[in-house]
Amino acid sequence: MEGFAGKVCVVTGAGSGIGQALALELGRSGAKLAISDVDTEGLAKTEAELKAIGAPVKADRLDVTEREAFLLYADEVKEHFGKVNQVYNNAGIAYSGDVEVSSFKDIERVMDVDYWGVVNGTKAFLPHLIESGDGHVVNVSSLFGIFSVPGQAAYNAAKFAVRGFTESLRQEMLTKHPYVSVTTVHPGGIKTAIARNATAAEGLDVEQLAKEFDRKLARTTPERAARIILESVRKKRARVLVGADAKILDVIVRITGSGYQRVFSTVMGWLVRGVR
Ligand SMILES: NC(=O)c1ccc[n+]([C@@H]2O[C@H](COP(=O)([O-])OP(=O)(O)OC[C@H]3O[C@@H](n4cnc5c(N)ncnc54)[C@H](O)[C@@H]3O)[C@@H](O)[C@H]2O)c1
Repeated sequence: MEGFAGKVCVVTGAGSGIGQALALELGRSGAKLAISDVDTEGLAKTEAELKAIGAPVKADRLDVTEREAFLLYADEVKEHFGKVNQVYNNAGIAYSGDVEVSSFKDIERVMDVDYWGVVNGTKAFLPHLIESGDGHVVNVSSLFGIFSVPGQAAYNAAKFAVRGFTESLRQEMLTKHPYVSVTTVHPGGIKTAIARNATAAEGLDVEQLAKEFDRKLARTTPERAARIILESVRKKRARVLVGADAKILDVIVRITGSGYQRVFSTVMGWLVRGVR
């Protein structure tokens, strides 16, 4: 893909799924990669594939919830490559559970990774992106950052928060640093390990939920998702909806306003949590 040659790109959660596909597509497009994940095995695979392509790569174990480590890491990446152009705050986890039965700890964990991980990455790299004179913040929200479904309150909250944070940042950059672009990504169902890596409230069968997700919801491959995201990054778009499901549901929510909730409380409950 054109427009990425020579760019220094940071991708979190690059050991699997969308992050891995983004890193590889960026590598094939001539970018230099700083990749990280808590899953060092998956990360090593991505690193090996990038090396095989011939892309310069720095691979590190990084937990996006560890703020101090993230700040040090950002300086290390700048030191290593001499500049930083793009950060893809992609690392994320899924969790299922109704509010009534979810513990505070479970809800906080989702917010820590899916929201604070994005804030940490944005804040750590923003000074470097501004300094580069050609920066781009790409924050991965979700289709669940556009509408809510039962059983996903924690994930919905984190992904709505990512959207709010990122849309505000975009406006700040437009007025203060217009050469720094900001994009919010809203993937629909993507065929990744997310549901298999997920946790759930007591009494829910995670394996069954993962099977249902893979069978009913995951429609787009991570490779296709990565190409759609990068095409939008190249065009400096404010938001990218990934997959036909994301596009259709975005329209439904806009047409129905809050009315979607009545329909989704049954339909999406069945899709996301299994029939109850
Ligand atoms: N797959 C989907 O259908 C879908 C839909 C909407 C949004 N998303 C979002 O896309 C992003 C990528 O998800 P994916 O589908 O590729 O899932 P995935 O599970 O395949 O990959 C996520 C990666 O993030 C890593 N990770 C988890 N916690 C981390 C932490 N604390 N620090 C660093 N790395 C961590 C995991 O080890 C994993 O390698 C996530 O933010 C997810 O919420 C996915």
